[in-house]
Amino acid sequence: EQINHPPSLFAGKKILITAGPTREALDPVRYISNHSSGKMGYAIAEAAQKMGAEVTLVSGPVSISPPANIELISVISAQEMHDAVMAHIQTQDIFIGCAAVADFRLTDIPTHKVKKKAGLLTLSFEQNPDILKTVAALSNPPFTLGFAAETHDVEAYAKGKLERKKLNMIAANDVSSSDLGFNSDRNALTVITKNNTISLPAASKYALAIELLKLLNNEYSANQN
Ligand code: CTP
Ligand code: CA
Repeated sequence: EQINHPPSLFAGKKILITAGPTREALDPVRYISNHSSGKMGYAIAEAAQKMGAEVTLVSGPVSISPPANIELISVISAQEMHDAVMAHIQTQDIFIGCAAVADFRLTDIPTHKVKKKAGLLTLSFEQNPDILKTVAALSNPPFTLGFAAETHDVEAYAKGKLERKKLNMIAANDVSSSDLGFNSDRNALTVITKNNTISLPAASKYALAIELLKLLNNEYSANQN
C-alpha cells in the first residue's frame, strides 16, 4: 500500500491520543474489558508523528507495539487513563480520544479473590469519569476529536455525542460489522463537525488515520482564525 504523508502539517503541535481498551478490576485476579485492539489509536499516533506532531499516547493494555518517536504512557483502568490525560493536557494543542474507555467500574473491589458459591453473583457498578467530556469542558480546551463506536443509528448517536460533549469533531464507526472496526486492520469512518459530515470509505487503519488527520488539520486551522 502506497501512503503519501502530507509534509509536516502538525509541525510544532502537541497531540495527546488515548487508545486501546481499559480494564476494570472485579477482584485481584479478574477484570472486565472490551474488544478494542488499540490499532486505530496507534495508527493515528504514528501518522501524527510522521506529520510532524509531538505525540503523547496514553494507552490501555494492548498487544501491539508502540510507534517510534512518541511518548507512551501505559495505563490499565479508566481512572488511571483519566489521571494520566489530566496530568498532561494543559500543554496540548489537540486531544484525540480513541480509547474504548469502560463506562463503569465496580463500586467496591474485593481485596481477596471472589470464591465460587451456589446461587447468583450480583455486582454493583458506578460511573467512570468521561475523559473526553472533561477535556472539552476545560476553561482553555485543546481542539477535541472524539470517536463514537455504534452498532446502529451511527450518525445520529455520533452527532448527539458531538453536541453533548461539546467537541470540535467526532469520528463515528459502525462496530456491528465484523470485518471493520474493533480488532480489524481496516475501518471506515463518518467524520462529523458542527457544519459538515464527511465519509471516509473503508481502508487500512493507517491510510484512514492520514485522511482523518488531514480533515482534522483543516478544521483546526479554520478554528485558529
Ligand atoms: N470516552 C471517554 N471517557 C469515557 C467514555 C468515553 O473519554 N469514560 C470517549 C471515548 O474515547 C470516545 C467518546 O468518548 O472518544 C465516545 O465514547 P462512546 O463509548 O462511543 O460514548 P459514550 O459517551 O461513552 O456513550 P455510550 O457508551 O453510552 O454510547
Ligand atoms: Ca461508552
